[in-house]
Amino acid sequence: MRIKLFESEQKVMEAVPIGTIKKLTVKGRQFVIAHSGKGLVVADALCPHMNEPLHKGKLNAFNQIICPLHEYRFDLETGAESDDRCNRLQIFQIEIESDGVYLII
Ligand code: FES
Repeated sequence: MRIKLFESEQKVMEAVPIGTIKKLTVKGRQFVIAHSGKGLVVADALCPHMNEPLHKGKLNAFNQIICPLHEYRFDLETGAESDDRCNRLQIFQIEIESDGVYLII
């Protein structure tokens, strides 16, 4: 399924500035959208370790999202935890087109 998240690339850049993580609700399902140095990533809203909301986390210079509860670090390309201590974080594909920004789920 392909769902329009934002009307333009400019709108998503304004809503999710580089270095930030925001909550995202799409069709009743919760996600986070993160803007790292490598671009925009949509992921599951909850940490796969113990379900902490990841929008309260941080991004680092290694393209990882850091969970605020136990500071596990998840790669934003693969979803893998840096020390393989829990399941992967589910990462979703997004497409930036001339008519909008789309989430593929
Ligand atoms: S709940 Fe996220 S690292 Fe433990």
